[in-house]
Amino acid sequence: MSNSGIKVFAPASVSNLGCGFDILGLALERPGDEIIARFNDLGELRITLITGDRGRLPKSPDQNTVTIAARALLRHLHEEGRGIDFEIHKKMPFESGLGSSAASAVAGVVAVNELLRRPLEKRDLLPFAMQGERMASQAWHADNVAPSLLGGIILIRDNATLDVHRLPCPRGLYLAILHPDVQIPTALSRSRLPDSVSLGGMIEQTGNLGGFIHGLYQSDFDLISRSLQDVVIEPTRSKDIPYYQEIREAALHAGALGCLISGSGPSMFALCVNSLIAEECGEAM
Ligand code: HSE
Repeated sequence: MSNSGIKVFAPASVSNLGCGFDILGLALERPGDEIIARFNDLGELRITLITGDRGRLPKSPDQNTVTIAARALLRHLHEEGRGIDFEIHKKMPFESGLGSSAASAVAGVVAVNELLRRPLEKRDLLPFAMQGERMASQAWHADNVAPSLLGGIILIRDNATLDVHRLPCPRGLYLAILHPDVQIPTALSRSRLPDSVSLGGMIEQTGNLGGFIHGLYQSDFDLISRSLQDVVIEPTRSKDIPYYQEIREAALHAGALGCLISGSGPSMFALCVNSLIAEECGEAM
């Protein structure tokens, strides 16, 4: 078996997309995380190098999303005795709302699957990547892991059973992402959310969710734009993002279909119909 190793890239992702808390997410083309994995003779998982994290991520295999996810996969495949060294190159900000921990977990399981010559289909790696993500966010939601693994725009009908579906992506969609220089840990951000939603709020949110999905199927950008609203989560989370309303208005004024919080924030995304408008939105934001 070759020991030259394998290099894997897993992209960042934007989850929630306003109206789909915990159940919608899309993969970005870039940035993302890179992992290099190779077998060792020690029979254990090791993290030999982490770059791009300013020394903040744990190297202990019991605490890092990469090795937790990798170990879950190895256990499933009855390959626990395998020794693997991982180099992790973080090429995106973490605690940013761009699915950094999800990307690492995805890269970890894809690397292991490739080293073992693909015993599983990509889609079947999802539950194992989720084990890493759960450790990082202290919750079970696939709206970053699923798009990072599968690409495109993903609907999670049910997180418990990982009933995930790819939605159509109208041609030409671009995102401008603004990453304010603050960090918001997902677990902390989730702990501040309200426990219940009013009936009126539920009706508005589900109407927008249905409208967004229908808009994707029809490539109806006006409908997508009207549906990019969040009456449930945004009121709480936007308070932690400096100049939130001003940034949002700047993006909408520059032609974005919508501008909302990416995942648990602080990053904000503006969805745009082409790259030129996305660039203008990025400037304006
Ligand atoms: N859906 C999750 C949340 C994503 O908003 O808490 C975390 O990135």
